[in-house]
Amino acid sequence: MGDKKDQDGPLTIISNRAPYDPKKRSGSTRYERTVGGLVSVLDEIMCQRGGNWIAWGEDLGSSAEIRVPEGDPKYSMRLIQLTEQEVRNYYQGFSNRVMWPLCHYFVERCQFNNEYWKAYDTVNRKFAKTFISQFDDQSSIWIHDFHLTLLPGMLREARHNLSIGFFWHIPFPASPLFRVLPWREEVLRGMLGSDLIGFQLKIHADNFLQSVEDVLQLPIDRTRSQIEYEGRKVKVGAFPVGIDYVKWNALASTTSSEKMTKQIRNEVGVQHVLLGADRLDYTKGILERLLAYERFLEKYPKYRENVCFIQIAVPSRTQLQEYRTLRQKIDEIIGRISGRFSTGKWVPIRYLYRAYPMDRLAQYYAAADLALITPLRDGMNLVAEEYVASRIHDDGCLVLSEFAGAAGILKDAIVVNPYDIEGLADTIDRCLTMDESEKKRRMQRLRRALRNRDANWWCDTFLKSLAQNTAQPKLRIPNVIRTSPNPTVQ
Ligand code: G6P
Repeated sequence: MGDKKDQDGPLTIISNRAPYDPKKRSGSTRYERTVGGLVSVLDEIMCQRGGNWIAWGEDLGSSAEIRVPEGDPKYSMRLIQLTEQEVRNYYQGFSNRVMWPLCHYFVERCQFNNEYWKAYDTVNRKFAKTFISQFDDQSSIWIHDFHLTLLPGMLREARHNLSIGFFWHIPFPASPLFRVLPWREEVLRGMLGSDLIGFQLKIHADNFLQSVEDVLQLPIDRTRSQIEYEGRKVKVGAFPVGIDYVKWNALASTTSSEKMTKQIRNEVGVQHVLLGADRLDYTKGILERLLAYERFLEKYPKYRENVCFIQIAVPSRTQLQEYRTLRQKIDEIIGRISGRFSTGKWVPIRYLYRAYPMDRLAQYYAAADLALITPLRDGMNLVAEEYVASRIHDDGCLVLSEFAGAAGILKDAIVVNPYDIEGLADTIDRCLTMDESEKKRRMQRLRRALRNRDANWWCDTFLKSLAQNTAQPKLRIPNVIRTSPNPTVQ
């Protein structure tokens, strides 16, 4: 990615998750990069462009501004401290027990608790105050994800002329599902404080527009994909996130990487290496994938002692009981598969419960004949993209869930229904017996699809569109009066 600093002026990113977390080690504080798709793509971009990043985090040092990455600082991070109760109710509660399950179509997991909502409002206000006290109207603000839906509205209220972009990294559910949310109206109005709202795919943008029409009963200009709101035009669009393709490609290409890749394969010692790599989250379909692998070993005994499935699970949201329960279930299934199929000279599955740095991940990607990326629902899924970018020899095979946003971009993947255990077991066999020439053709096309739509392309396209949409004059019109306290929805 080129140096974009001068071109675009100061950019301020605002997200819940900070790109770096302080870790106290033998008396000194070190800042380590955090995990998740949002940070992995935005940190790369900020390292190229510079600017500011405001997020939640414990500031163990004394300064309000922390330059990151450590050792080779490129941009400034400002951390907002939250009380324990705010973390419980705003982050673990409203963000992860309401917005996350709802948007991933797990409505039965939602806990609609009023205390969660109150804390969500308070913390969004804290973010707004921090920005207002530290920055003027000149910087472009780019707010990220479902933790901060009220923030655009709060900032607009305080500073009418700000240029506010908002990006939604996860799926936006269909209107009949979104409307289940008791605070649907406040969430939509908050988001409409933005000038531009970006989603991963057109379907998510359409779901949002439909929800606005159903809940707020506002007219939608579908041709221009915009909504007139309080005298402003709010633009809505699809901007699929890309990765730093060149970097992943390079990480897999170094001599030491190629050596490590060989070493991984030698250690595993089988003909076929399968890989799964996810944050440990119930949306990722890890349990279903394990069941499919178990079924595959049952149904196709010829692969026994010839195949190994490496599952990397990155610890995530470990304070939440749901995530701990999932971890136990995964442990149980892995124990069962190992118990059923292991022999004196072979283990069918290797489970790595930890985070890896990028170079190590690229080596695992390069070592795997088959990547099983089978989330039950996902906004995009950058692991799928990283796997493709790491296949420097145009080989390997990507098995991708039809419910991952990435399936809308990576059309040459082998697309599966992650709930169909039998079908997934058969797909593994199909891929392992697929013609090398077909695999190559598919991988070449996959790589081409990604190369031109990388992280910089995504960022440029979004910010250009934001700049165009902020150029319009902004009339100050008082808040739209609700048509009724509880608008009727179909
Ligand atoms: C997803 C979300 C991000 C989030 C990440 C990690 O990628 O879209 O907003 O940061 O998961 O989750 P966490 O709760 O640890 O921030």
